[in-house]
Order: sequence, then C-alpha cells, then structure tokens
Amino acid sequence: MTEQDVLFRPLAAGALHLPNRVLMAPLTRNRSHPDGTPREMAATYYRQRASAGLIVSEATQISAMGKGYKDTPGIYTDSHVEGWKPIVEAVHAGGGRIVCQLWHVGRISHVSLLPDGRQPVSSSPIRAKAQTFTANGFEDVSEPVALDLDGIAKTLDDYATAAKCARAAGFDGIEVHSANGYLLDQFLQDGVNHREDEYGGSIENRTRLLREVLDRVCDVFPADRVGVRLSPLGQANDMSDSDPEATFGAAYRLLNGRGLAYLHVIEQFFGQDTEEDDKALLRRLRGLFDGVYIGNGSYDAATARQAIAAGEVDAVAFGRPFIANPDLPERYRIGAQLNTPDQDTFYGGGSEGYTDYPALDPAH
Ligand code: FNR
Repeated sequence: MTEQDVLFRPLAAGALHLPNRVLMAPLTRNRSHPDGTPREMAATYYRQRASAGLIVSEATQISAMGKGYKDTPGIYTDSHVEGWKPIVEAVHAGGGRIVCQLWHVGRISHVSLLPDGRQPVSSSPIRAKAQTFTANGFEDVSEPVALDLDGIAKTLDDYATAAKCARAAGFDGIEVHSANGYLLDQFLQDGVNHREDEYGGSIENRTRLLREVLDRVCDVFPADRVGVRLSPLGQANDMSDSDPEATFGAAYRLLNGRGLAYLHVIEQFFGQDTEEDDKALLRRLRGLFDGVYIGNGSYDAATARQAIAAGEVDAVAFGRPFIANPDLPERYRIGAQLNTPDQDTFYGGGSEGYTDYPALDPAH
C-alpha cells in the first residue's frame, strides 16, 4: 500500500491529531493490582501498541462503586495516578496518544467487588441477566439499588474527580464509556430505566445523566479532548429499549454542538451478527452526528478501508486484532499476516497473552 492508503491519512479528532486511522479499542485485561493501581507491565503493553492512531485505555473505574470486575484499574486515587503516569509516558515516548476510558459499571457488578459488600447501583433496581468476573470466576451479577438524587450528585462528582486524575496522570483526553450496558447506558435505555424523576421517563430525562457527565468532565478537559462511546444496538449486558432510534438519535444529537473529539460506536458486538435492519439503523443514526465518527466491531483492514473511503466512518477502532498484534498499523500497511488472539488469556493473568505477542521481524 502507498501513502494513498486511507488508513494512513491523518485525522484531527478535536485536539487529538491522529497520524493514522487504525485505532486501538478499549480492552479490559484484568491485570491491575486489587486496589485498581495498574501494574508496571501495562507500560510495556501499551508502549508496544503506541503506533495506533489513538489508544483508548481499558475501561477504568471512576470510583470504588464503579467497579464490576476483578483487577480492573481505577482513576480516582493518588496511587492510581502514579500507576498510570509511567504508562502514559511510555506511550508518549513511543510517539503515541492515549485517552482514558472512564467507566462506571452500574448494576454489572457483584457485592464481593464493592466496598463493605454494598449492592451495585443503577437507574432502577432491576437485576441484569448477566455475569461478571470475580475472585470465583464468572458469577451472576448482584441485585442493584436505584441511585437516589444524592447518589447521582455524588456520581457526577466522581466523574469530575476521575477526569482530574486522568489529567494529572498525563492522559491526552478521556472517553466517556456510555456503552455496553454500563451505568450511563442503564440510564439511557428504557428497558432498564423505569425512574419517575427527572432522570427517567422522557428521552430528555434519560439522556440527562450523560449530558451532566459531559458538562462535568468538560470542565476538566477541553471538550475537544473528550470522546463518547455508545452502543445503539444494545446487545451487551441485558439491555433493551422500546425505541432505540429515538433514544440513540437523541443521544447522538446531544453530542453535536459541544465540539467533542469524537463519537465512538460499537456497531457489532463480537460473536453476534448484525442484521440488515440494524445496519440501516446505524446508518440513519450516523447521519445525525456531525463530528468525527469512529466505527468498531469486527472490522479488518479491507472493511475499514472501504468504510473510510465511502465516508461511513472517519476511523476504525480494532479490539481483538490489537490484543494479538502490537504493530497492527504496520501489518495492515504492508498486508502482513496477523497473529491470532488467544481468548484464554484475555482476562487476567500475567505477561502471557499480554506483552508476549511478537511484532513483525524488522528484517522482513
Ligand atoms: C472488550 N471491549 C471493551 N469495550 C469497552 O468499551 N471497554 C472495555 O474495557 C472493553 N473491554 C474488552 C475486553 C476484551 C478482551 C474484548 C475482546 C472486548 C469491547 C471492544 O472494545 C470492542 O468493542 C470489541 O472487541 C469489538 O471490536 P473487535 O474486537 O471486533 O475489533
């Protein structure tokens, strides 16, 4: 491929200047210390992947109550900030850029993971038919309680604190995780949100928490360093909505006019096919957002090139391919073979399946 390759056209995503459009999707790897401080080996892992146009960090909880899986990282204590600093520095030293994905799992959690064995929180007290990964392996999630208005105010403060910690750690920006059935998605979609206060009922009310989170984090980072991740097809974690087009149409529109860095959309969840109707819905929604649009989900180099060339997406985030191929952009550039991801080492463990995937032999 030559410089004409659309994957290697630079892209300005707000204030983030991306040298290519092969981005690394957020990938939970469950290898942090139990207190949420990332381990040193994460610097090697992310540094190896610094050639991505942009790295979105693994989902990182904004508070102790935002945690839903064993050994995921946090970004709300001094120890977290100190743990992330060398990781961000390593990515920068490798010529890369990294944003922190801010995460609150809401009801996708388990009492054993939360402070004092507390119940998880959500928009409404409806338990998900879903599992999480605890000290005992995969377990059904616990029964949640609905956040009251004080709890919502506290959660908004937690987002602001987490954004400040991300800034202190040196991140280039943040991505607000509003996808995959976690807390913000639990407020958006009416299959879960049965509230009768100003955070439930109308679409205006169900999008309120996302708007307020954006207001708070954009007080810390300029909006052009803030992205948002949404999953309008709602496949993950037992989500549903009576009118996804209306709900997500409103969510896309509320992002317009804020000057955000990008919208990042999960168009296909792994292991699931996307029906033609769903593809048409994604296209209609796409037309509602007027900023930089990142597509994700089962893309390869060919489909990414096609989608960028057709103007359907501005860039593509790759998940599993980046787990197994630290130098994914170069492999796509020259059409090299790809390493195969090993699912058994996705979640938890040490350097195996984490930092030991080989880069291309520089002699070839
Ligand atoms: C994920 N995914 C994910 N999504 C997210 O928003 N935050 C996260 O922390 C994670 N963690 C995660 C871990 C692992 C091991 C996998 C495989 C996936 C979803 C991921 O970002 C992406 O949407 C999917 O992997 C689909 O993209 P690919 O893999 O088909 O390119």
